Amino acid sequence: MLSFKIGLHLLIASLVAFHLLPSPVACDDEGKNLLHDVNIYRKVMNLPVLDESAKASCLAEEIAEDLADMHCETFRDYYPTPGNNSKIPNFQKNLAKCSIEINTTTDGVIMPLCVPKLNHDVLFSNYTKSNRFTKYLNNSKYNIAGVGTEDDWMVFIVGTNSSSANFSSSSSRLAHLSKPHLLMLAFFFTTLLLFFN
Ligand SMILES: *[C@@H]1O[C@H](CO)[C@@H](O)[C@H](O)[C@H]1NC(C)=O
Ligand SMILES: *[C@@H]1O[C@H](CO)[C@@H](O)[C@H](O)[C@H]1NC(C)=O
Ligand SMILES: *[C@@H]1O[C@H](CO)[C@@H](O)[C@H](O)[C@H]1NC(C)=O
Ligand SMILES: *[C@@H]1O[C@H](CO)[C@@H](O)[C@H](O)[C@H]1NC(C)=O
Ligand SMILES: *[C@@H]1O[C@H](CO)[C@@H](O)[C@H](O)[C@H]1NC(C)=O
Ligand SMILES: *[C@@H]1O[C@H](CO)[C@@H](O)[C@H](O)[C@H]1NC(C)=O
Repeated sequence: MLSFKIGLHLLIASLVAFHLLPSPVACDDEGKNLLHDVNIYRKVMNLPVLDESAKASCLAEEIAEDLADMHCETFRDYYPTPGNNSKIPNFQKNLAKCSIEINTTTDGVIMPLCVPKLNHDVLFSNYTKSNRFTKYLNNSKYNIAGVGTEDDWMVFIVGTNSSSANFSSSSSRLAHLSKPHLLMLAFFFTTLLLFFN
């Protein structure tokens, strides 16, 4: 009876947590801010807004985490080329973590930038006014985005809704769930096990 009650409480707690848990990108405030302002900029320029893609943001987040160990200098002069991510650390591994097929990234662009304390004005002006990134951010063909931050690093990804740039997977249903959701599912099933013990 005792274990039944504990199980019931855990079950309820896990259900509550499952629904209240913020998505991984929701706590990434500066990333959200930047995307928000870039979208205002795009509206002013009469360009389609960038819809956030959970998978592209997952990838941006993973890349930012890897960059956090590196000096700002490493990517200071990084000029992105669509499909050419040869300099991005652990690219394949991070794609796998986010369940993204590499051939859905070939027309997307990944733009890492290091700005001390992620100063918003510096970030915004570097993405929208420095030539190397601006030609992607002011391009009408892009309509999805992913953002991720870690320490002083911002990673901004743009893509399209076509199969060569939508940062998606071709198969696996589970792949549609983000990492924390999978954790919550694991917790949920563990709780169920306790419940029936
Ligand atoms: C991709 O990047 C590598 C290394 O930075 C460079 O040598 C190569 O020319 C680039 N390819 C394209 C198509 O830009
Ligand atoms: C991408 O690659 C996967 C696996 O190699 C393949 O199944 C899929 O058809 C490819 N998709 C496109 C759009 O080329
Ligand atoms: C931001 O852009 C300015 C002007 O292009 C440049 O001088 C500065 O080095 C850039 N900062 C970073 C962190 O890339
Ligand atoms: C986009 O940015 C590039 C590089 O700064 C610039 O040459 C081009 O005129 C801009 N396009 C638009 C539509 O503003
Ligand atoms: C992509 O988006 C554009 C504009 O929103 C739309 O016209 C087009 O049909 C979409 N393509 C796909 C494959 O969803
Ligand atoms: C990506 O594009 C392919 C082909 O248009 C489509 O089947 C798939 O549903 C898209 N995935 C996402 C997440 O938009």
